[in-house]
Amino acid sequence: MKNTAATFLQMKQRGEKISMLTCYDYSTAKLMERTGVNAILVGDSLGNTMLGYPDTLSVTMDDMIHHGSAVARACSNTMVVIDMPFLSYQASVYDAVINAGRLIKEGRGNAVKLEGGAAVVQQIRAIVDAGIPVQAHIGMTPQSVNAFGGFKVQGKGEAAAKQLLQDAYAVQDAGAFSVVLECVPPKLTALISEKLAIPTIGIGAGAGCDGQILVYQDMLGMFNDYVPKFVKQFANVGEIMSQAFKDYKGAVQNGSFPSAEHTFAKSDCSCAYLTQLAAEL
Ligand code: KIV
Repeated sequence: MKNTAATFLQMKQRGEKISMLTCYDYSTAKLMERTGVNAILVGDSLGNTMLGYPDTLSVTMDDMIHHGSAVARACSNTMVVIDMPFLSYQASVYDAVINAGRLIKEGRGNAVKLEGGAAVVQQIRAIVDAGIPVQAHIGMTPQSVNAFGGFKVQGKGEAAAKQLLQDAYAVQDAGAFSVVLECVPPKLTALISEKLAIPTIGIGAGAGCDGQILVYQDMLGMFNDYVPKFVKQFANVGEIMSQAFKDYKGAVQNGSFPSAEHTFAKSDCSCAYLTQLAAEL
């Protein structure tokens, strides 16, 4: 059965933890779909992990549609949330609705995610009114990295904690079906999660959230440009890939690949014809 915004709410009400992972391509999404993970986020973190930018600011709507639709084609049951990239929603409510609509129509996502609290409630309300579920994202919001002066834990101190709690209420009141809390102190996370009716999904926010999300290359040890403290490596796939690439290079160099096993049988082509062809050239 397809996971939806309603599933998220039911899981929170039943006290069941929600699992999300990021994903950006068809074959990886197929593997995730088979595990029963509740939702995939086609995050604008693809700017870092897939496109090699130092941040998410250069990611475009076309990038999100390209990767989003690849993931959506793999997902029958997994809910697909697609990130709204930088400046696709901040400038106006009109931009927000049109661009959210493109992520659903062209990207084939089931919901969109956007960053910000009270500052973007009009956008959230309008997108929800257009029939599109919205996941909010507060705390460390990477699209504001220049305003924050780096990737830092947010909500430290009384004023910042109060602001974050107000942001959480604001996005809930605007109609968001869930909210991502990124790099938030665990006690504040627990408080927000207890107060909100909608589920909180944490990344670097401790165990008090209703669910968790990780960037898949981080949790598989495939991306070492920067490894945040909150990442747990569930497997070292990066090491396995590197070894396989080395083994392949060696096998090509020493001629052991391709062997007879990986070569079409001689009877597949006419040797007599090839002999004649060679003579003609
Ligand atoms: O883009 C992304 O991957 C995200 C997650 C880190 C929540 O926003």
